Amino acid sequence: MNFTEHTILIVDDEKNTRDGLRLSLEDEFDVYVAANIAEAEEVLKNESVDVMLTDLRLGGENGMDLITRTLARAKAPVCILMTAYGSVDVAVEAMKKGAYDYVSKPLNIDELEIVIKRAIRSRKVEEEIVALKAQVTERYGLENIIGRSAAMQPIFETVRQVAPTRATVLIEGESGTGKELVGRAIHHLSGRPRAKLVTVHCAALSEQLLESELFGHERGAFTGALERRIGRFEEADGGTLFLDEIGEIDLNTQVKLLRAIGERTIERLGSNKPLKVDVRVVAATNKDLSEMVREGTFRDDLFFRLNVVSLMMPPLRQRKEDIILLVDAFLREFTEENGKPPMELTTEAMQALYDYDWPGNVRELRTVIEHGVVMSNTAKIGVRHLPPFLKDDSLLNFRQTAKGQISAAAPPAAAANIFSDGDLNLGKMEEKMIRLALERTADNRTEAARLLGISRRTMQRKLKEMGLIDE
Ligand SMILES: Nc1ncnc2c1ncn2[C@@H]1O[C@H](COP(=O)(O)OP(=O)(O)OP(=O)(O)O)[C@@H](O)[C@H]1O
Ligand SMILES: [Mg+2]
Repeated sequence: MNFTEHTILIVDDEKNTRDGLRLSLEDEFDVYVAANIAEAEEVLKNESVDVMLTDLRLGGENGMDLITRTLARAKAPVCILMTAYGSVDVAVEAMKKGAYDYVSKPLNIDELEIVIKRAIRSRKVEEEIVALKAQVTERYGLENIIGRSAAMQPIFETVRQVAPTRATVLIEGESGTGKELVGRAIHHLSGRPRAKLVTVHCAALSEQLLESELFGHERGAFTGALERRIGRFEEADGGTLFLDEIGEIDLNTQVKLLRAIGERTIERLGSNKPLKVDVRVVAATNKDLSEMVREGTFRDDLFFRLNVVSLMMPPLRQRKEDIILLVDAFLREFTEENGKPPMELTTEAMQALYDYDWPGNVRELRTVIEHGVVMSNTAKIGVRHLPPFLKDDSLLNFRQTAKGQISAAAPPAAAANIFSDGDLNLGKMEEKMIRLALERTADNRTEAARLLGISRRTMQRKLKEMGLIDE
């Protein structure tokens, strides 16, 4: 086992002891020192410390307090107490509180090294157990991705094939098609049980925040950077970084990302010290990245880097045969969650699900089933228990006709249902359709444009004409 990559924190109020210990240990370990509790906590906050070695007496402070507080942290290091010769009872108390071991002063360095190495090994085993447990309980493997349709087969195959490799994977697909689910499966099948999965939602952050989120920053790197912060790349070292909504990142950050992936090095903001990171990147987007490359809003070199292996998640309307399996799973999930007996859908309700074209894909189906489970008081879920947009198939018929050619078969009654005579003006009708599409997609313009069968640019233009946007 190579110990140099393991981090030790030495806490002692005596400078001589700190310096002495640092000198004797720094060949073998990555050593940090602190003179008091505040300094120790600063290090613990910013570094991933494997072993903390603290003196019992820290000036006016108590090393035992530090141990108790440290062990309460989410990622606590193994704690070892240094005590004066003879104070075994204190040491025993420390161990009762969760300290791993104790050493008596004056210190014997060889002995100390053995104790530290033993502590590191035990921590490794502990971490492995935690990771394995998490794997079992989370079960983020392929069995969580429901679908037997032909459209899903290439997804399963590719995931199995690429998961154990280091290849960068790009997952494309409409909203709600299961991109994140697949990203997790890739990570969990990677065959590295201890590896971490770190997710960054790129759309949620402004340019500067995203950069500091990804790469970290040094204290004072920008206004508001009050302390040093480890970025997600560093956090995911040895594991997987899932970059969600990668199509949202700005061109500047794209350059840095390209370098991080290509050269496997990053720099924290405000630092020019390159740090090696070993991270497997999985990216997801509901945008058409190749289109963005053509438009010049996404760098082609980054696109090619990310696109080593790509997965195109099929929309639900192209795999309607999976609806029945998905419904089954969601019924089970939500009856359990709501403490209800097993439920099923009536034939008509099931038909309504098949007739609908699911712009929000599996996520939307899941919500619809939850709605049904909550609304029905019997074991059956009927059409009337489903959200209104599924009941009103006149809307659906009308939309389908409007998208395609106006045919003689178009049921005139359908149109009459939504539009009064005064509205039978093409411009007004168009406006109504656009509002309807926006309502359906919770104001997602891209989705709404897709529903209407027009390009996003046309959509923008029409919204502008309607005075709904001004950019
Ligand atoms: N094949 C599937 N089997 C079971 N559940 C699924 C499947 N696909 C998606 N889901 C469920 O649908 C919801 C949305 O999935 P997910 O978050 O992975 O979609 P997404 O493609 O990342 O969407 P977005 O682009 O909006 O972020 C989640 O609750 C997920 O568990
Ligand atoms: Mg997602």
